[in-house]
Amino acid sequence: MRSFNGTVLVAGATGRTGVWIVKRLQSHQIDYHLFVRSGQKALELFGPEIIDKLTIGSVENPEEIKASLGHAEAVICAIGGNVTDPEAAPPSAIDRDAVIRLATLAKEHGVKKFILVSSLCVTKPDHPMNKYGQVLAMKLAAENEVRRLFSEPGFSFTILRPGGLIEGPPLHHALQFDTGDRIPTGKINRSDVAEVAVLSLFTPDAHNLTFELIESEESPQHSLAHFFAMIRS
Ligand SMILES: NC(=O)c1ccc[n+]([C@@H]2O[C@H](COP(=O)([O-])OP(=O)(O)OC[C@H]3O[C@@H](n4cnc5c(N)ncnc54)[C@H](OP(=O)(O)O)[C@@H]3O)[C@@H](O)[C@H]2O)c1
Repeated sequence: MRSFNGTVLVAGATGRTGVWIVKRLQSHQIDYHLFVRSGQKALELFGPEIIDKLTIGSVENPEEIKASLGHAEAVICAIGGNVTDPEAAPPSAIDRDAVIRLATLAKEHGVKKFILVSSLCVTKPDHPMNKYGQVLAMKLAAENEVRRLFSEPGFSFTILRPGGLIEGPPLHHALQFDTGDRIPTGKINRSDVAEVAVLSLFTPDAHNLTFELIESEESPQHSLAHFFAMIRS
C-alpha cells in the first residue's frame, strides 16, 4: 500500500538533495513529477523512463512553474541558489523570491502540502553564511511566507532546517530533531534529509512543523519517523 496517494512535485530534483528525494519517493512507491532546469541532466540522473514525469523550466518563471504543477497534491522544494558563483542569481532571487513564487502558485493551484528544505540558523542574522547575499535571511523570508500560506485550514507545511549537508547513504545514523533554531552547528546526510522530507508527506507529527535536524551517532535505522517524537513529546 502506498503511504501517500497523490503526485508530489519535486522542485530542484536534479540538485544533490533533490536526487535523493526522488530516490526516496521511488523507494516509498509515491508518484512524483519533477521540475528541472535541464532535461538532459534529469535523464542522465534518473534514466529515460522518467521522461513523462518532467517539466523543464526555471523557478524564476511563473508560467513554467504553473506548467509543472499538473495534478500535484504536494510539493517538496529543494532548490537553492549557488552563493559562491557571482554569475548565478542571488539568494534574494532564488532562496526567497523563487520559493515564495513556487509556494504561492502551488497554493493557488490547489496543492495541499508544501515541504521546504531550508537551513539551520536561518534566524541568526550575524551568522557567517549571511555574508553570501544574506542567504539565511532570504531563506527565513521564504519560510515565513510558506508558513503563512500553508497554515490555513485544509493546507499544511513542513519546513526542514538541516545542518551542513554531506554525502552518504540513508538510514545509517541516529538523528537529532529540535525546534526554535537552538542547534548551533551539525551535519547530516542529504539522503536522510530527503527521507525525512518524504516521511513528512504522511507523518501526522510533521504537520505544520518547522524543525532542525542533524545527525548524531552512526547507527542503522529501519525508519527515521520515530525522531519526530523528540519534538512532539
Ligand atoms: N550545502 C549545505 O551544507 C546546506 C546546508 C543547509 C541547507 N542547505 C540548503 O538545502 C537545499 C538543498 O541543498 P543542495 O546542496 O542539495 O543544493 P544543490 O545541489 O545546489 O541543488 C540546488 C537545486 O536548485 C536548483 N535550482 C537553482 N536555481 C534554479 C532555478 N532558477 N530554477 C530551477 N531550479 C533551480 C538547481 O538546479 P540544477 O540542478 O539545474 O543546478 C538544483 O537542482 C538548498 O536550499 C540549500 O541552500 C544547504
